[in-house]
Amino acid sequence: MVVPPSSYCFRIMLLSLTLFLHLASHQIEAASEKVEYLPGFDGPLPFQLETGYVGLGDTDDDLQVFYYFIESENDPKNDPLILWLTGGPGCSSFSGLAYQIGPIKFKIEEYNGSLPNLILRPQSWTKVSNIIFVDLPFGTGFSYAKDVISHRSDWKLVHHTHQFIRKWFIQHPEFLSNKFYMGADSYSGIPAPAIVQEISNGNDKGLHPWINLQGYLLGNPVTTKNEPNDRIPYVHGMALISDELYLSLQRNCKGEYMKIDSENQLCLRDMQYYQECLSRINMFDILDIYCEDDSLNNNEVKQRRSFTEMPEAPPRSSYLTVPAMDCQIYGFFLGTQWANDASVRKALHIREEIGKWERCYTTDFDYEIASSFEFHVNLSAKGYRSLIYSGDHDAVVPFSSTQAWIRALNYSIVDDWRPWFLNGQVAGYTRTYANQMTFATVKGSGHTAPEYKPDEGFAMLSRWLSNVPL
Ligand SMILES: *[C@@H]1O[C@H](CO)[C@@H](O)[C@H](O)[C@H]1NC(C)=O
Ligand SMILES: *[C@@H]1O[C@H](CO)[C@@H](O)[C@H](O)[C@H]1NC(C)=O
Ligand SMILES: *[C@@H]1O[C@H](CO)[C@@H](O)[C@H](O)[C@H]1NC(C)=O
Repeated sequence: MVVPPSSYCFRIMLLSLTLFLHLASHQIEAASEKVEYLPGFDGPLPFQLETGYVGLGDTDDDLQVFYYFIESENDPKNDPLILWLTGGPGCSSFSGLAYQIGPIKFKIEEYNGSLPNLILRPQSWTKVSNIIFVDLPFGTGFSYAKDVISHRSDWKLVHHTHQFIRKWFIQHPEFLSNKFYMGADSYSGIPAPAIVQEISNGNDKGLHPWINLQGYLLGNPVTTKNEPNDRIPYVHGMALISDELYLSLQRNCKGEYMKIDSENQLCLRDMQYYQECLSRINMFDILDIYCEDDSLNNNEVKQRRSFTEMPEAPPRSSYLTVPAMDCQIYGFFLGTQWANDASVRKALHIREEIGKWERCYTTDFDYEIASSFEFHVNLSAKGYRSLIYSGDHDAVVPFSSTQAWIRALNYSIVDDWRPWFLNGQVAGYTRTYANQMTFATVKGSGHTAPEYKPDEGFAMLSRWLSNVPL
């Protein structure tokens, strides 16, 4: 049968229309979606939450970056926009959202198998800024790649974050005029300054869209990777090791506590004593209680256990045992139950191929950036503002370590070391340098400062964002 040309044409049209619709629906699927209700939270969310995937690959089923975007509860059009990267590497940015600076947190109550409940965090940083919490590197949180392992390294994390933010802006042009800041903590002190440099270089090269980059803020950031060495004088100052052991360590190890010569028995002996002194100290907050975290290195734990005993119960996601309720990690446990619940995944619009959510996936990562110091040198020269804050009871990245590299930038001090206050009380100490870098301690706080001291953390951020001295 000879098909009349008109009908043929019509079929082609139909075909291309279907193709178009197919593509369009695919795009809608891939784009962002509003979230009005979250399982575990009572009633509609009193803030604007959007989640979505941004694709960085050639195909739709590869390299999908998941993010949570929360609009400022104040003035989203004019308030700054922060892109937040949690540490690890490989800890989901949901950690930043739910445990540190976002508008919701888990209600700490006994877990009985029901979905954990969420409540509001009054000191949310989203009261004064728009925040994108992004799950990167690939494999982190709800982000996805066909071949996850080949996409996990410092530089890949840097490039992917940069690509992500430009694409995100293309989908959200209404936020292009907002002041943009990069925010990160802990391990992300390594990639974040490099991301800021890439964004800045991209702007210089004329990449579209142009990003209104103002600067960056970092909390207890890993920077030189000399932090384990700096830990020794810190724990001595905090009375966790004796004067005699400290002197002996200095004498025998000569300031190098990471790469110890296996022949150096005196240093090794001192280090063993040092480790015994600290073995039941919570290094993330030396005043907090110590809790075993069996969600980390779980494979090892599982293997070790399987030699001697059968697991009594199926593991709850990655946890073999429920942590005690007064442990910080109890919240991590609740979060893991919550994020693996089918109703939660549906509400967050998580793609179906995404497997189990773990708060941190830190293995399979290539460490390529030895220090981020040179990026700070470059960024200071370009005049970007920065806030570097330290919970002063963190032994993982001690404040003294952070101060040492800031001092090494050689900028003059414009506002010298002084207390900063909240409600008439000393909230911490601060100092500002000529390169627009402000250093602040949060007194009595741990590794993730706003988590332990939410009022102080919020005051610090709001003052810094609005350019008033702390
Ligand atoms: C668990 O506790 C909550 C309240 O704390 C209650 O609403 C729920 O029914 C309980 N679930 C089970 C399975 O007992
Ligand atoms: C700092 O900037 C200089 C000049 O643009 C560049 O050559 C250098 O690679 C940058 N440093 C880093 C660590 O990227
Ligand atoms: C800071 O000053 C010291 C001593 O003069 C110098 O060795 C170092 O290179 C300077 N650092 C920077 C980042 O310029």
